[in-house]
Amino acid sequence: MALTFLGIESSCDDTAAAVVRDDRDILASVVAGQTALHADFGGVVPEIAARAHAEKLDACVEEALSQAGLRLADLDGIAVTAGPGLIGGVLSGVMLAKGLAIGSGLPLIGVNHLAGHALTPRLTDGVAYPYLMLLVSGGHCQFLSVTGPDSFTRLGGTIDDAPGEAFDKIAKLLGLPQPGGPSVEAAARAGNPRRFALPRPLLDRPGCDLSFSGLKTAVLRQRDDLAAAQGGLHEQDRADLCAGFQAAVADVLAEKTRRALAQTGAPVLAVAGGVAANQTLRAALQTIAAEAGAAFLAPPLRLCTDNAAMIAWAGIEAYNAGQRDGMDLAARPRWPL
Ligand code: KG4
Ligand code: ZN
Repeated sequence: MALTFLGIESSCDDTAAAVVRDDRDILASVVAGQTALHADFGGVVPEIAARAHAEKLDACVEEALSQAGLRLADLDGIAVTAGPGLIGGVLSGVMLAKGLAIGSGLPLIGVNHLAGHALTPRLTDGVAYPYLMLLVSGGHCQFLSVTGPDSFTRLGGTIDDAPGEAFDKIAKLLGLPQPGGPSVEAAARAGNPRRFALPRPLLDRPGCDLSFSGLKTAVLRQRDDLAAAQGGLHEQDRADLCAGFQAAVADVLAEKTRRALAQTGAPVLAVAGGVAANQTLRAALQTIAAEAGAAFLAPPLRLCTDNAAMIAWAGIEAYNAGQRDGMDLAARPRWPL
């Protein structure tokens, strides 16, 4: 008998609900973003996020069920992100899921948000274990060797900023709109990536750890030098700085990915997270995967960024592996895989 799960996600700045079947059919995936609410603050404000989640969660769940044409009673389980993330939002989701589970008698499964991202290639492409996952978003950056639904080995990750965070900061210091990734990528199209000598942090060190804060500082210094010398930045300066920064990020991620593939011998490289939308990065990773004889897989962007379909799917996998949670399921701000 096919399983159908409701998924609930509210750990950052997207409120989401989805209905997913174990045959990988996504019956509904509703995502209500909060970008406009945080736009004036240059980042996600936890209190505003928590309030918006509390206000929107019910409606998202109702919308997902209605799109799927199902009632709660038709489902087989409820999966909810129990961490890691902003605690106010995670709590809202967990409390709603508990209420729904009590009311319906359905099993409750607490899901790690990172496991949701990491298992997405199985939902989108039915990828078999094992595979290598590179998670690159605004909040996360890590290499995971995925060998089972609850079996992740972290090979390395950022020791400071996440790459999306770095893109956002570069945009801010160059006066480009948020979110920074798309605007830096757009500006970089007209730029020369070799005009400025920018560092490739941690390439000289063994292993798969990454660092992006020094790169950001280097861009800041170049900007200030230019501003001091010519009284401001020209359009071309901005484009060249964006192109140089983007090329440095892609170089570093590509080299560390090469090492992670060599270390694991994984047959598949999958990427997830908002930064995986970047075309320069994608092309670099595709080349590295081809050289290692690995297949390259990038799920569609709406399933690469935060969503609840990945949470429902991770819930189904955990349920099949025997996981059941009770009313003592805790919301965890920190929860390493
Ligand atoms: O996965 P995501 O939607 O949210 C979380 O971080 O959880 O990722 C958002 C991040 C933002 O920092 C955004 O600037 C970055 O992904 N991003 C990009 C691109 N599109 C989005 N970074 C580089 N190039 C892009 N095209
Ligand atoms: Zn995420």
